[in-house]
Amino acid sequence: MKLLVTGGAGFIGSAVVRQAMAQGHEVVNLDALTYAACLANVASVAEMPGYAFVEADICDRAALDKVFADHAPDAVMHLAAESHVDRSIDGPGAFIQTNVTGTYTLLEAARGFWQGQGRPEGFRFHHISTDEVFGSLGETGLFTEDTPYDPRSPYSASKAASDHLVRAWGQTYGLPVVLSNCSNNYGAYHFPEKLVPVVILNALAGRDIPVYGQGENIRDWLYVEDHAEALLMVLQKGRVGRSYNIGGGNEVRNIDLVGMICAILDQKRPRAAPYSDLITFVTDRPGHDARYAIDATRIADELGWKPSVTLEQGLERTVLWYLDNEDWWRALISREGVGERLGTRM
Ligand SMILES: NC(=O)c1ccc[n+]([C@@H]2O[C@H](COP(=O)([O-])OP(=O)(O)OC[C@H]3O[C@@H](n4cnc5c(N)ncnc54)[C@H](O)[C@@H]3O)[C@@H](O)[C@H]2O)c1
Repeated sequence: MKLLVTGGAGFIGSAVVRQAMAQGHEVVNLDALTYAACLANVASVAEMPGYAFVEADICDRAALDKVFADHAPDAVMHLAAESHVDRSIDGPGAFIQTNVTGTYTLLEAARGFWQGQGRPEGFRFHHISTDEVFGSLGETGLFTEDTPYDPRSPYSASKAASDHLVRAWGQTYGLPVVLSNCSNNYGAYHFPEKLVPVVILNALAGRDIPVYGQGENIRDWLYVEDHAEALLMVLQKGRVGRSYNIGGGNEVRNIDLVGMICAILDQKRPRAAPYSDLITFVTDRPGHDARYAIDATRIADELGWKPSVTLEQGLERTVLWYLDNEDWWRALISREGVGERLGTRM
């Protein structure tokens, strides 16, 4: 298939691009190259036949129309987004613009193209979203695809809005859409403002490792390569109009995740004192959701997907990748806001 992947220079999008190319698909990678993008993430496929990169903003209808006309994709995988919750607290406007207006603009461009092609049944618009749209869980229970939406941060509210738009375009215009909502990802090429790389890079620098509140918040961690595999399955085998929850089945408190990373570093890059000595509790994120956990039964039963690695295996691979790829992260840590405490401007 020829896939138009938006946000393919970001963390998850680049994993999708690399895997799609490895599976023999053609890829048009459309990305505005914001602060979160890095073309090095897709350097391994950049020279391959069947790969094209277009620098464009998903809010730019004319640019999108040209991409559809030039490349005539069989499917869209929409990952472009503002994705950092802390940044959404300080500056929600960019999240509304990209995640809501951008998704609307992309839907309209896709609809125009699809209608112009005679509404091919095989066309797909796959919208990639987050489990954060479901809100925050108590000590028990899991998010299913039928859990009512209850977003609580500007980020998750903007993603929830985009999910609603995609479903509406499916219902109203018949655009063949599929959706997926995923838990927290980790892995190689994770931008250095997110929790897992922050822990690794602060530890390596001998700096305090900041943990919000008491580190009690629980997330369900998924290795990014497993997510990319699941996304390509949802695209090709998912039922039109349906959404799929994707999770790793790895519920862990933040403080325990940080402890696991420190323990791996103690083994792989030993220093005089254990890295966990660097853990420092800092003021919590405003409105910090307590617990996310995914029920991934539907994708397992209908599509036969399950994660391929355990959290321990995935974290070890991730830590080793950061140890081996210092040039990659050194080039990014000077970008605006990286290494600063964000999400406190109230
Ligand atoms: N990271 C996670 O744990 C996670 C979990 C579930 C769902 N998601 C969703 O997956 C998607 C990808 O997340 P990520 O972590 O890879 O994000 P990311 O921030 O690493 O990458 C986002 C990419 O989108 C691009 N982009 C941003 N605004 C754009 C615009 N207006 N036009 C074109 N490109 C633009 C950026 O340049 C960047 O390359 C997002 O939609 C996010 O909501 C992420």
